[in-house]
Amino acid sequence: MNPTQITFTRPDDWHLHLRDGAMLAAVLPDTARRFARAIVMPNLKPPVATVAQARAYRERILAALPEGSNFTPLMTLYLTEATTPADIIEAANSGLVHAVKYYPAGATTNAAQGVGELRRVFPVLEEMQKQGLPLLMHGEVTDPDVDVFDREPVFVERELSQLRRSFPELRMVLEHITTAEAAAFVRESPAHVGATITPQHLLLNRNAIFVGGLQPHHYCLPVLKRERHRQALVQAATCGDPHFFLGTDSAPHPKHAKESACGCAGIFSSHAAIELYAEAFDAVGALDKLEAFASFHGADFYRLPRNTDTITLLREPWQVPDEVDFGGTPGVPMRAGSHVHWRLR
Ligand code: DOR
Ligand code: ZN
Repeated sequence: MNPTQITFTRPDDWHLHLRDGAMLAAVLPDTARRFARAIVMPNLKPPVATVAQARAYRERILAALPEGSNFTPLMTLYLTEATTPADIIEAANSGLVHAVKYYPAGATTNAAQGVGELRRVFPVLEEMQKQGLPLLMHGEVTDPDVDVFDREPVFVERELSQLRRSFPELRMVLEHITTAEAAAFVRESPAHVGATITPQHLLLNRNAIFVGGLQPHHYCLPVLKRERHRQALVQAATCGDPHFFLGTDSAPHPKHAKESACGCAGIFSSHAAIELYAEAFDAVGALDKLEAFASFHGADFYRLPRNTDTITLLREPWQVPDEVDFGGTPGVPMRAGSHVHWRLR
């Protein structure tokens, strides 16, 4: 099968950073053109930690949408050690908060106010389990003695296994998985444990950070891994297993903040997100599995209706610009200056 175009149910992005203000207005149209809904990450400064903050952020997103867009932002709360079970009940009843995000303190961008010790939030997790509100995990330990490339498997072994035992009914998503170990853990878990996979972790291995010199635009967290892990993720995404669904983790940073002596983690992919996934699936002859991964599994996990309209991708290469506007400051998108092999009609 080598189709020149594919039409399938409009997808959703189950892990997205939209930021705020001018940057939000600049990046949102890319997502709104492709996806019906997105789970919006709460790692703003200050974090989106209360239902009131989530409601206000949602209003700012809706106000930034292009005319006529039907895009729906699905809000999340940022779990801090100050989050209470009452906050969870309020979130579950709000109708607008769909999940709670756990950042181990200091694990990544704007994670300083994350959770130092999971035990401290056990009453909150208990309430989430009771309310059926999913916990979205940045699954990396922050222990400085653990090698950066091992932080996800160590998280799975030390923290996730324990968490599953303590809260067997808690709905959880291991976000942006990057290793064979994480994929195996999720595959062997019950249906209320899922995982998102990014386009960069399906298309690139860690060589991409170093080829021909240091490549800051390929730096994200969790960091890219070895080729054997990339292959395990491709297998997980393309095998039809409903545990796995699309989450771009598209994370815009100004060009100057990436091309810096201490560069920020994050890859911007919203400008070509579903097209890049199509490439990854096409490369292993699995285009027929793309719709389930991109448009069904996430909606089913979140207990939301599947979308009813469709999108069409054409097998037609186009060149990604070297830079895009991130709201008054340039940003460098994934594949900058090179070709993407599918085009959104
Ligand atoms: O690369 C990343 N960028 N990983 C994250 O976990 C956060 C994100 C961001 O917000 O920039
Ligand atoms: Zn993220």
